[in-house]
Amino acid sequence: MTLVPRGMIPRRLILEHDEDVRPRVHDGRAADDLDPWRIDMTMTAHVTSPASGRVTEILQSALVELIDLSVQGKQAHWAVAGPMFKSVHEQLDTIVDDLRSAYDDVAERMAALEVPPDGRLATVISGTPVDPMPSGWQVDTDVVERMLRRLQALSIRLGGWIDELGDLDAVSQDLLIGLRHGIDKHAWMLRMQVREG
Ligand SMILES: [Fe+2]
Repeated sequence: MTLVPRGMIPRRLILEHDEDVRPRVHDGRAADDLDPWRIDMTMTAHVTSPASGRVTEILQSALVELIDLSVQGKQAHWAVAGPMFKSVHEQLDTIVDDLRSAYDDVAERMAALEVPPDGRLATVISGTPVDPMPSGWQVDTDVVERMLRRLQALSIRLGGWIDELGDLDAVSQDLLIGLRHGIDKHAWMLRMQVREG
């Protein structure tokens, strides 16, 4: 592999695809001919624009809330009691699985932006906006309403972050849009169980 002198690497790489789908930088050189470490670092510099501080703040906030909500969902899964026990118990596990998958995606987006995600319990406890679930057994309809309120609050916060990310990082925005779709779907399924008419 030919190493290109440091000064020849464009600060902002624009990857294009030629007919044989080989990525090339905008000056026509094949990306494979460049030092991969230099490419990676240059692309990272491109992705992490001056706005990246706010991008990572948003992702870190989403990470903390998703982790806390997943733990609280598991607590509710164990504590639920009443005639709807089986369906709510199983439904909560589905929600928890999706929340865990969601926070993994958020954390890995942060890592892709070269920002270390912080999912430590102490960080979650000090930073979460989620109201804690009460201790002890919980009546099934109360569990449904409590989880519903927490998912709706998250959805509203996601909406604000999605708006902000439109000007900052389209990939992170796309990620949160997908997450909000899933959150809203779970909220709908919970809402239908306690809705009267
Ligand atoms: Fe379980």
